[in-house]
Amino acid sequence: MTDKTNQSWGGRFSEPVDAFVARFTASVEFDKRLYRHDIMGSIAHATMLEQAGVLNVAERDAIIEGLKQIQAEIEAGQFDWRVDLEDVHMNIEARLTDRIGITGKKLHTGRSRNDQVATDIRLWLRDEIDVILGEITRLQQGLLELAEAEADTVMPGFTHLQTAQPVTFGHHLLAWFEMLSRDYERLVDCRKRVNRMPLGSAALAGTTYPIQREITCQLLGFEAISGNSLDGVSDRDFAIEFCAAASLAMMHLSRFSEELVLWTSAQFQFIDLPDRFCTGSSIMPQKKNPDVPELVRGKSGRVFGALTGLLTLMKGQPLAYNKDNQEDKEPLFDAADTLRDSLRAFADMVPAIKPKREIMREAALRGFSTATDLADYLVRKGLPFRDCHEIVGHAVKYGVQTGKDLAEMSLDELRQFSAEIGDDVFAVLTLEGSVNARNHIGGTAPAQVRAAVSRGRALLAAR
Ligand code: ARG
Repeated sequence: MTDKTNQSWGGRFSEPVDAFVARFTASVEFDKRLYRHDIMGSIAHATMLEQAGVLNVAERDAIIEGLKQIQAEIEAGQFDWRVDLEDVHMNIEARLTDRIGITGKKLHTGRSRNDQVATDIRLWLRDEIDVILGEITRLQQGLLELAEAEADTVMPGFTHLQTAQPVTFGHHLLAWFEMLSRDYERLVDCRKRVNRMPLGSAALAGTTYPIQREITCQLLGFEAISGNSLDGVSDRDFAIEFCAAASLAMMHLSRFSEELVLWTSAQFQFIDLPDRFCTGSSIMPQKKNPDVPELVRGKSGRVFGALTGLLTLMKGQPLAYNKDNQEDKEPLFDAADTLRDSLRAFADMVPAIKPKREIMREAALRGFSTATDLADYLVRKGLPFRDCHEIVGHAVKYGVQTGKDLAEMSLDELRQFSAEIGDDVFAVLTLEGSVNARNHIGGTAPAQVRAAVSRGRALLAAR
């Protein structure tokens, strides 16, 4: 009968599973990428079973040797993945039995695919998080370098995408650094909850064998053992949490992308991106499109989708394991791949950004960006802020009518609006005067940008 059903669970079945259903329920096409972690988990399980007296030394060694050879076969591209064997777990187990005979069938003692798959995903995700953390750090290093080089570069700062006040380009770049620092922290925190071991939960209730979970926990480098077998096999909150952290990081990269797209446009021209991060148009010869940022902005949607998908996947499930959970992998894999690749593209691209300092400066000179500085100047002369706001409003109105920025008006012109204005006003109306005046922690002054860069370097060095 097992021959006919061709399945390791075929014993209680009297007809083979429908060919379409077999394909429909199989996950091997996508879960085969867990093979390394599946084998790692199996080696730890076999090692523990021997110490617990369930396997003898020869059996353990045969299993471990067989699993290592299977890993080599997979990595050499010589492994025959079979859809009729459903998933990565049964493919590897069946191959083990092919290779080492009936001892291979003992590996699954005291274990179920339910705790096996939950363990595999956690091991896999832990490694992915580590790679992603490395890419965040690399991107942050690039931002620090560029911010330091551009600590004195003045550009317009925006609110409502309207010119607001001058800022330094270095300061603007360091805003991205801050967001990425929080993304990093979130992933480090998420990793702690990923790094808990469900192995030993078995199908749902635990197992009658004298397993020693402390041993597998230590062998696999988990920080803790899951405290309840039903929860251990069923919840995928760790994957959802990862997708939430990944969504926030992608949202940040998407906003960053939007700025790069704007800045490279003919209307802004604040920066140039090297050709290797752009593509042309097949019809418009002049085009150089910022494809990498555009794609990253677009890809953020896949990761938000993964988050929504996994929340929806989980919300209706009764305890404990349900086959629904097989659907956790594709969104999780896609979210991790998308975040990693987007970070990688940004980490490669950011050091290659070429700022166009003169154009940024000219843009900051337009749009009355030092109007607040003039109001603050009048406050220092003793006027109440609300009155100063009004006075400067009139000066701006005059500037709009005459086509002059505040710094381009003569002293007489400025004094029409307040007799308190003296010729010391021009120092505050310059871009440098404006940014240098915001000289406190978190402010835009070049000195503060340099201080923030050294704080940032210390932060990265402590990772
Ligand atoms: N392929 C399954 C998954 O990804 C493995 C666990 C299946 N367990 C079961 N009892 N059918 O979730």
